[in-house]
Amino acid sequence: MKKYVVWAGMALGLLASAPGAFADNGPKMIAPHYTYNSKTIIAGAKLFATDCMACHSIKFMRYEFLTNDLGMSKADVHKYIMLPTGSKYKGNMVSAMPTDMAHKWFGLPPPDLSQIVRYKSQNWVYTYLLSFYLDPKQPSGWNNHVFPNVAMPDVLALHSGFVNEQGKVLRAGDESPQKFKEQVSDIVAFLRFVSDPSVVQRHDEGPWVLGLLALFIIFAYFLKKEYWRDVK
Ligand code: HEC
Repeated sequence: MKKYVVWAGMALGLLASAPGAFADNGPKMIAPHYTYNSKTIIAGAKLFATDCMACHSIKFMRYEFLTNDLGMSKADVHKYIMLPTGSKYKGNMVSAMPTDMAHKWFGLPPPDLSQIVRYKSQNWVYTYLLSFYLDPKQPSGWNNHVFPNVAMPDVLALHSGFVNEQGKVLRAGDESPQKFKEQVSDIVAFLRFVSDPSVVQRHDEGPWVLGLLALFIIFAYFLKKEYWRDVK
């Protein structure tokens, strides 16, 4: 009996600690809609390099992995991704922003995003990037529905458009809402890849491994039949 009580207690504890398990107040998380393959991840990597890497590093990632794991040519990695001055092909993806300047501008250094998707989830990062609004009371002029009083400005506002807290569009963006959401999905796909780089290879190889196992089952079945014929 005591054992069951302990198990029930643990199950309840797990439920209560699951993030947002019972939370129905606060903004709703939105799931990104992407086809997860090397094409969407590369598109996200290019956007990350132009729009995010001025401030954020992903120091667990090396440029050369984009070639090894995603098949991007070395020339393209140089042209589209290695934008910070002094970056090396075999080096880590580190932003060129000096930490003391970051402190001065934002009050804190922009965090490394290598594990952000594991830490906060893909849905959270996607929703966060779509939840900025203009707020004149903030030092940066921006605020965010899922990250109140955030120090990061809405760096994608030119593409998404400028909205106020109520969601009213004050100035349209240069991308259609559909295209913009696709681009943000691609950035999230890239960040997911960064937090788990072997995932593409696993997805590619998985069906082959399952196929081989299925073949083996058929083989084992006939082998068993063959052996048992003599026994019976
Ligand atoms: C101008 C500098 C700057 C740029 C460019 C920038 N960020 Fe940020 N970002 C910040 C700062 C500063 C913070 C810390 C916010 C805080 O803690 O209040 C932050 C926080 C974040 C967080 C939350 C991290 C956490 O620990 O919760 C995510 C996710 C993020 N940024 C993603 C991005 C993405 C994706 C891009 C590109 C589309 C981007 N950022 C571009 C400055 C920037």
